[in-house]
Amino acid sequence: MSRPLWDKGGVSDAEMMRYTARDDWQLDQRLLRYDLLATAAHVRGLGRIGVLTADEVDRMTGAIDALSEECARGELVLTIADEDGHSAIEARLTQSLGELGKKIHTGRSRNDQVLVALRLYERDATLGLCAAATEGAHALLDLARAEEFTPLPGYTHLQRAVPSSVGLWAAGLSESVLDARDMLRANLRLIDRNPLGGAAGYGVNIPLDRDGVTRELEFAGVNVNPIAAQASRGTVEVGLLAAAWQLMATIRRFAWDVSLFTTSEFGFVKLPHALTTGSSIMPNKRNPDVVELMRAACGVVQGAMNELMGMLSLPSGYHRDLQLTKAPLMRGLDETLATVRMLPLVVRGLEFDRIRMRAAVSADCYATDRAVELALAGVPFRDAYRQVAAELDTLTPGDPDASLRARTSPGACADLRLDSLQARLDTAG
Ligand code: ARG
Repeated sequence: MSRPLWDKGGVSDAEMMRYTARDDWQLDQRLLRYDLLATAAHVRGLGRIGVLTADEVDRMTGAIDALSEECARGELVLTIADEDGHSAIEARLTQSLGELGKKIHTGRSRNDQVLVALRLYERDATLGLCAAATEGAHALLDLARAEEFTPLPGYTHLQRAVPSSVGLWAAGLSESVLDARDMLRANLRLIDRNPLGGAAGYGVNIPLDRDGVTRELEFAGVNVNPIAAQASRGTVEVGLLAAAWQLMATIRRFAWDVSLFTTSEFGFVKLPHALTTGSSIMPNKRNPDVVELMRAACGVVQGAMNELMGMLSLPSGYHRDLQLTKAPLMRGLDETLATVRMLPLVVRGLEFDRIRMRAAVSADCYATDRAVELALAGVPFRDAYRQVAAELDTLTPGDPDASLRARTSPGACADLRLDSLQARLDTAG
């Protein structure tokens, strides 16, 4: 490992150094472009308060821009010799600018530097998840439109219950995906605040232009109190993963339904060949591995969130413990994005067996309809209920189309309110 930023003489144990640096340099590779963005904003902020001259600002931002371009080309590659991305930036700037490069850390600490880089990364990641969720909700809404009146039994306790429709199922999933997107957006309010300028966690003895830096980095506001900003490390990430979990829990439910519906016992749905995998021994198999992994992925996100929560029992101020929040955060977000991206693909691939679904709306499914019809004819509902229960064996199958069309209350099969779902889907804010 090269000489650390904090080296002031004395020898550090090499094994201890490896233990503390861990894989931080690899994780920081993904934060590097954001770190560079914030570094340039910091430099310009120092220029505005006269800590750096205009010429120094120009030369430094020029060198940072060059590093950003290198980074975008994939040529700024961190190695184990870099303790972390922050050290790498200072080392590279000192390499290219000499003495001037050593001024970069005036008025900041790696503690607020990592915070701001994470916030910028999280803002992009959240917007990416929201966009992917919108795609998924869109595919589900299209399905609801296409199969609006396609009969499908409604199940409770996994037992056939009442006539229902593919439209209701798909619109319901679409709505749940949009609920999760709202949670992601709500969490963005906590992410979208600039922590840079808090330095080690207690401010610094120069009048930093925090508002200007905040504007430059397009944050909605300043994360004013530096102790609160430091304490938010990890908790903001738990909030983000909790919102991601919400999305993943909906996808898990979708995956469960599809894996049931594709069994030969249900036989409602087939996946196209392109979305199935085979068995190494059983020539007859076409397996829905993709939906099974979409189901399991929720556990990955939950595990990441638990891992984070387990580290956050800390007193005020920065602690190195916080470094370990980075890996589960990235793992959880990566898993969520990869899984959400599969959603439209799988939804658009579903091949419904309409005849089997219609046939599965068996005579018993109409028991509730009958009891309600009797109630409408004047029989008190509890008496109607008992009367139908006594005659279950002789119940004749009803007409699924008529049953669906009679369900006219808002949200029910004949009034799915797909236009309001579409309007919600289209809201950007
Ligand atoms: N890699 C560190 C982290 O992620 C950067 C901050 C190091 N700060 C320190 N005081 N050692 O938290």
